[in-house]
This record gives sequence, structure tokens and C-alpha cells, in this order.
Amino acid sequence: MRVLVAGGAGYIGAHMVRCLAENGHAVTVFDNLSSGHEEAVRWGRLVVGDVLDRSALDAVLRGDHYDAVMHFCARSLVGESMLQPLAYYRNNVGGTLTLLEAMRAAGVEHIVFSSSAAIFGQPLSECIDEGHPLAPINPYGASKWMCEQMIEDAVRAFGLRAVALRYFNAAGADPQGRLGESHRPETHLIPNMLRAAREQGEPLQIFGDDYPTGDGTCIRDYVHVDDLAEAHLAALQLMQRKPGMHRFNLGNGTGFSVREVIAAGERVSGQKVRYTVAARRDGDPAVLVAASRHAREILGWKPFYADIEGIIETAWRWHCAPRY
Ligand code: UFG
Repeated sequence: MRVLVAGGAGYIGAHMVRCLAENGHAVTVFDNLSSGHEEAVRWGRLVVGDVLDRSALDAVLRGDHYDAVMHFCARSLVGESMLQPLAYYRNNVGGTLTLLEAMRAAGVEHIVFSSSAAIFGQPLSECIDEGHPLAPINPYGASKWMCEQMIEDAVRAFGLRAVALRYFNAAGADPQGRLGESHRPETHLIPNMLRAAREQGEPLQIFGDDYPTGDGTCIRDYVHVDDLAEAHLAALQLMQRKPGMHRFNLGNGTGFSVREVIAAGERVSGQKVRYTVAARRDGDPAVLVAASRHAREILGWKPFYADIEGIIETAWRWHCAPRY
């Protein structure tokens, strides 16, 4: 297939591009490079442009026939979204709207959308399945929910086919060390932890140890970025067979607390992780763990990286020799 990957220079998008190319698909990356890396686009053609720029999107979508779009462009930091909500709505909601309009004009009929566990808010059950109520507690999650709703309406009205994949905590890196997680500034737990294990300087901050969890720190479901990419491939196939809109929660189904992640990081790196305990971060729910049965049954998706150490190992390899 010919696939346009919007946001393909970012962390998850770049792993996706590699996976598509390795599976024989032709890829064009559309990315404004605001947080993505040109060096990460090694398996496809790069068009630099902004997803809010309709004419740039028209130009790329009309330049070639695309079978599908994968949409990774988003601002994606929960804490930042609490401080800059309007920027999140403009970029994430406005960007998705513009992309949907451009796809419709160009006759592109399939989209895989990067959604997020943040759409669920505070969980009401131990594991979150697709039927869990949607009640985001931060603008980032709210923006992703709005995008899902817009896509669903377009599916109903125009016969678009769509899959929304709700990632839990994307983690890890290309096992061959060609791609990895590189945000500036870095806010995510695993890269910050590995920096604190390897380098001098500021210790890791644990954001809150007074949550209602076993050790007081937040629990998350970490899922390897390559496993997420595999789910997208399966979603492409599903859309060929089944019209309509489909939604899947993607995680390993096991939660790890911040302290457990630190302990795993110390085992993998053989280094002590220096840390301090700080205040809670605004917008963080205590526990987020996926029930991914639906993805297993319908997509046939089964994460290859089932344990946290295996995931951190790939991240550590990248962290010791980052390419960008
Ligand atoms: N954390 C720390 N110290 C850090 C960084 C994070 O203690 O330096 C904690 C956070 O408070 C949280 C956990 O580690 O409890 C994981 O935090 P991340 O920043 O790595 O990831 P998030 O859970 O905030 O965010 C991820 C995705 C979002 C998605 C969200 C769902 O990055 O896109 O999961 O809530 F929305």
C-alpha cells in the first residue's frame, strides 16, 4: 500500500515508518519537524509541512494516490496541556479536522488515528477496556476524544474507514538502535530514568508518592513502540475487510509503578538511578492499565515485548548511543 504517515518523524511515527517499509509498503512522511527529527526518517520520503496547513496537505495528497493515512501529529504532554489547553485544541483537533477535510477532497478512504489512554480519565475498573466511559481529566485527553468523535462522524457521513488506537504508555526503542525516544525537553519516565542512571546532573523526580497504589507512585501500562507499530499494520488489514470505525486499547495488560520501573531500570543498566520525590504532576491519574482483549481477538495482536525489562533494555541501548 501507499501510506502517508503524518507525524512520521516523531517517536512512534518513525518506528511506524520503518515497520511499514520493512513490510513492503511505500511511505511518505508529512511532518513539520517541530518535535520530530529529520534523521529519524530513513525509510520514506519526507515532506516538511504542517498538518494545520490545508494547502500543503492538498499538495501532498494530490501528488500521489494514497491508500491510507496514519495520523501521529499531536502535542502529547499531559502536564503541558493543562497549562496550554488552547494550543492543544488548535493543534490536535484543528490538525485532525484539516487532515480529514484534505483526505476527503483527495478521495483517501482509510485512516489509522493515534489516540490515547488519556481519553478515559480516572479509571473506574482495574483494567480499561473499550467500553470504559470516556471522561478525560486533561486537555490532551479531551482533544484526542474530540478527534475520535470527528472521525466517527466522517465515517458515518462519507464512508471513510477508520481505526483509533488508544495507546497506553509507549516505551522502548528499535532493538537495532537505529531509532529511539528523543524529546526536547524530555518529560517521560523511562528516558528520564535512564539519563539519571547514566549521567551526572539532576536526579529523576518521582511525581508524587501519595497515590492510592501499593507503593504510593503512579501505575502505568508500558507497551513497546514496535508492538504499537505492529497493531497499526493489523489495523490497515482490518480496514480492508471491515467498513466503519474500530477502536482498540493497546497495552500489555500489566501495570508497573514508578518505583517498579526504577527498580527494573537499575537491573537493566546495572546502575543506581538517583531520584528525589516531588509533588504530584497536574493531570496524572493514579492508575492506567489496558484490557487489550479486543485487540487480541479482532486484530490478532499480541505484544512481543511482554515484560518491562525487555522494553527498558531496548531503550537503554538507544540511550547509550542515540543517533539524534
Ligand atoms: N513520571 C515521574 N517522573 C518523570 C516523568 C514521569 O515520576 O520524570 C511519572 C508520571 O507522573 C507518571 C509516570 O511516571 O505517573 C509516567 O509518566 P510519563 O510522562 O512517562 O507518561 P504519561 O503517563 O504522563 O503519558 C503517557 C503518554 C501520553 C498519554 C498518557 C496517558 O505520553 O501521551 O500516557 O495518560 F496521554
